[in-house]
Amino acid sequence: MRLGIISALAEEQHGLIEALQSPYKHIHGMREYTTGKLWEIDAVCVLSRIGKVAAAMTAAILVEKFGVTHIVFTGVAGSGDKTVNVGDIVVAEALVQHDFDASPLFPKFEIPLTGLSYFATDVALTERLAIAAAKTARVHRGLIASGDQFIGKLAQIQAIKAGLPELLAVEMEGAAVAQVCFELGIPFAVIRTISDNANDDAAVDFMHFIKTVASRYAFEVIHNFCKQ
Ligand code: ADE
Repeated sequence: MRLGIISALAEEQHGLIEALQSPYKHIHGMREYTTGKLWEIDAVCVLSRIGKVAAAMTAAILVEKFGVTHIVFTGVAGSGDKTVNVGDIVVAEALVQHDFDASPLFPKFEIPLTGLSYFATDVALTERLAIAAAKTARVHRGLIASGDQFIGKLAQIQAIKAGLPELLAVEMEGAAVAQVCFELGIPFAVIRTISDNANDDAAVDFMHFIKTVASRYAFEVIHNFCKQ
C-alpha cells in the first residue's frame, strides 16, 4: 500500500507531517507533497486547499505522479443531522456533490456519464478508519455531501437536507476526491470531525474548532489507522 493522505487545511494535518519518517518534500502545481514512512506505512501527505477542483486535482496528482494506491481524506465538516454533534466523527459510506445539478438533462446530483449520484467509499478502508476513529470520538457512518460553498446559514443547510434526507455532514472536497478515485479505480475513504452545525454560528465555531481540536483528532485517527 502507498497511502495518500489529503487534508484541506494546515490545521487539519499538522502533526502528521512531523510524524513522517524520512520526509521528503516535492513541490508540484502549487502543492507540497511530503513522502515518507508513517508508522511503517509508505505515505504521501498533502494539503488539497479548499473546494472540489482543488481536491480533485490533488487526488489525481497523488495517483498519477506519486503512485498512491489508496487515498484517505481527513478534515472537518459541518453537521448535516441533528444526531451528529460538534466533536463527533463522520466516516463516509458514500459522497454526493450537493451543488451538482444538470437537470433536466440528467437527474439532480447525477454526475453525467458515470450514471452515479452517490460514490461509495471502499468498504475495507472505511471499516479500518471507523475502528480507528472510535478510539477518539463518537462515530457516525453514512452520507457526506460536498459543494463549493461554506454552509453558514440555517436556510442553506435546511435546503441541502431537504434534498438529501440521509445527510450526516457537509464539506467542500470529499465528493470530488470520490469521483476521481472512482474514475481511476483507487480505493478511498473520507473521515470528517464535526466542527460546526452549518448554521448561522458556523463560521465562528469552525474557526475555534480548527484552532483547538482539529489537528489532534486527525493525528490520533490516522495514528490508530496506521497501527492497526
Ligand atoms: N467544513 C467545516 N464546516 C463546514 C461548513 N459549515 N460548510 C462547508 N464546509 C465545512
